[in-house]
Amino acid sequence: THVVTDNCEQCRYTECVTVCPVACFRGDGERLFIDPDLCVDCGACVPMCPVHAIVDSFDLEDDQQIWIGVNERRAKELPTVRDRSAPLPTAPERRAALGY
Ligand code: F3S
Repeated sequence: THVVTDNCEQCRYTECVTVCPVACFRGDGERLFIDPDLCVDCGACVPMCPVHAIVDSFDLEDDQQIWIGVNERRAKELPTVRDRSAPLPTAPERRAALGY
């Protein structure tokens, strides 16, 4: 599966949802998560994210492994996000801080 890491926080660009063929993104007002039971590992969302928040779980660094369980758990609790929306007001600052 692919996972959304903490780079999404304070950004929520939602470019990712526009290309997902299986609508596997779930989210709240702060960020999105990927439902691992729906994700088909196509990777289409990866280049869409301006802050490189989406990573193949096999490529996660050791200190990012936590996001596998967090995505699985939170995706089950949150509604599907299918539509693109404006990024959070904090997105430009956060993006700059991340170096993107
Ligand atoms: Fe988050 Fe990137 Fe999607 S910031 S909402 S994972 S495009």
